Amino acid sequence: MRTESAAAAPITAQSLTERPVWKALETHHHTIKDLHLRQLFADDAKRGEHLTAEAAGIYLDYSKNRITGETLRLLVQLAEECDLRARIDAMFSGKQINSTEQRAALHTALRAPKNERIVADGIDVVPEVHAVLDRMAAFADQLRSGHWRGHTGKRIRNIINIGIGGSDLGPVMAYEALRYYSVREMNFRFVSNVDGTDFKEATIGIDPEETLFIICSKTFTTTETLANAHAARKWILGKLDNIQAVRKHFVAVSTNAEEVSNFGIDLANMFGFWDWVGGRYSMDSAIGLSTMVAIGPDNFRAMLAGFHAMDQHFRTAPFDKNLPVIMGLLAIWYNNFFDGQTIAVLPYDQYLKRFPAYLQQLTMESNGKHVTLDGARVSYQTSPIIWGEPGTNGQHSFYQLIHQGTRLIPCDFIGFCHTLNPLDNHHDLLMANLFAQTEALAFGKTTDEVKAEGTPDWLCPHRSFEGNRPTNTILAERLTPYTLGTLVALYEHSVFTQGAIWNIDSFDQWGVELGKALAQRIVQELAITNGPPLKHDSSTNTLIRRYVRLKETPP
Ligand code: F6P
Repeated sequence: MRTESAAAAPITAQSLTERPVWKALETHHHTIKDLHLRQLFADDAKRGEHLTAEAAGIYLDYSKNRITGETLRLLVQLAEECDLRARIDAMFSGKQINSTEQRAALHTALRAPKNERIVADGIDVVPEVHAVLDRMAAFADQLRSGHWRGHTGKRIRNIINIGIGGSDLGPVMAYEALRYYSVREMNFRFVSNVDGTDFKEATIGIDPEETLFIICSKTFTTTETLANAHAARKWILGKLDNIQAVRKHFVAVSTNAEEVSNFGIDLANMFGFWDWVGGRYSMDSAIGLSTMVAIGPDNFRAMLAGFHAMDQHFRTAPFDKNLPVIMGLLAIWYNNFFDGQTIAVLPYDQYLKRFPAYLQQLTMESNGKHVTLDGARVSYQTSPIIWGEPGTNGQHSFYQLIHQGTRLIPCDFIGFCHTLNPLDNHHDLLMANLFAQTEALAFGKTTDEVKAEGTPDWLCPHRSFEGNRPTNTILAERLTPYTLGTLVALYEHSVFTQGAIWNIDSFDQWGVELGKALAQRIVQELAITNGPPLKHDSSTNTLIRRYVRLKETPP
C-alpha cells in the first residue's frame, strides 16, 4: 500500500557527527568517561530514585548508567535536534517512513482501539485491523472448543506454525512467554529452519488427523517456509490421501492471496495483514494466530492493550520521562561514545527465554544499516549486537566476561515482582540474583576490599571487580499478556528512537537479499554431479565440489 508522501524524509543534510550537540556529547564523554558509578551514587544519595521512569506498568531504573544530568540533557537535545518528535508523529500517522520500500510502518495501528481512526492512503485501517482480529478470534474459539475438526472428524490437538524470521520469532517468543496462560490440551510447535530436522522433529509422535498447520509468510514466497509448507502437505496427504484434507488442516497468514491460493489453501482459511506491517513488527497481527489459539482471544486482546499503552506513552511523554526514548538514547550513548559493541538482554524469567532471540531480529534487522536515508555512508556505528539468556543460567556461563572481561557490555535486566509459579523461596532467590548482579556490576569490589578479606596480594588482581558496568533494570508486577505487549512495544520504540537518530531506514532489510539470490543459483549447482564449470570464487567452487562429491558417497 502506498501512503501519504513522506514527512520522514531526511530532515537535514547535516551529518549527525557534525552537529554541535554531537560534538558536545563527545567532549562531555571525554570529561566523564572515567567517572565511577560509585562516585555518582555517592554524590547523589537519591540517584536510585531520581533516575527512574515509569509507564504502562513498567518501572525502569536507569540510575546504574554512566551518565550525569548533563549527559541526559545533551542526549535529549540530540533527540530533539534529530527531529525525533516529528518522526514519531510520521510513524503513527501512516507516513511513508520506510522510504526505500515506499511504505508506512504502521504496526501501531495493529493495536489501536476500535474507536481510533488511522488513515493510510486515504483509508482508515482500524476497521480492517479489527475485522481480521474478529475472524482470528472466531477461528481460535472454534479450535479451542473442538468445533473445528480435522478431515476425519478428529479434534485438532496439535498446532504447527510454519514461518521464519518475523513469521516465526514473534510467535515462538510469545507462545513461550505466555505459556502459563495457554490451553494445555493442545500442543504448539514451530518449524522455521529449512533443515529437514526441524520439520521431522516437530512432527514426530503426532497424528496428522489431529494436526493443523498455520503457514505464516508475509510474502508467501520465502523459500524455507514454502519448502516446509510443501513437506507439511505431503505429511498430511501421506496419511489422509485426499486433497480435500488440506482445507481442514491448513490455514495461511499472509499479505499475498494469490500465492496462498496457488499453494492450495482456501482463501476462506487465510488471515490477511498489510504491507505496512514489517515482518519483525508483526507478532500482534494475524501472524500471532498461534498465540491467540494458545492463550485465547481475550488474552490476545489484553496483549494488544499493553502494546497500545506503551505506544501512547511513547507518543506523548516528554523525552526525559519517555521509557523507549531513554533506553534508545542510552543505547546510543554506549554504542557511539563508549564504543560499546553489544547489549545483553537478561530476563530473570524462564518464560522469556526466547525474548533475546526475538530482540535480535527486531534490533539488528532494523538498525543493521550502513547508509542514511539519503543513501550516504554513515560515519558512525549503527545497531549494537543484541544477545542474552535468561538469568540465572547466564550467570554460570558468560557473566564472567561482563564482570571482569575487557569489553564494556551494557545490560538490560528484566524481572517481575510476582512469579507465576511459586515454589518455596525460588522467586526470592531469582530476584536476589538479579539485584545482586546489577549491584556487583555497578560497584564492583576494590582491591583494598579484597585485601581486607585476607586475600594474598598475588590473588587480589584476580579477585577484584572494577565495577562501573552499566545496567538498566526493568521491573514489572507480573508477566501477563498485557505486560508482554508493553515490553515488546518498549523495545520496538527504543529501536525506532535509535534509527531516527542515526537517520537510517529501520524498516527495510535489503541486506538479506544477496545471500538469498546466491543460494537460489547454488542449489541448482548442487543438484548436478558433472555440471558446467563453476563460476564462483575458488573457495566457494572448492566447497561446492567437495560437497557434491561427498554427498554421493554413502556415509
Ligand atoms: O529474510 C528476511 C525476512 O524478509 C524477514 O524480514 C521476514 O520476517 C522473514 O524474511 C520472513 O518473511 P515472510 O514472512 O515473507 O516469509
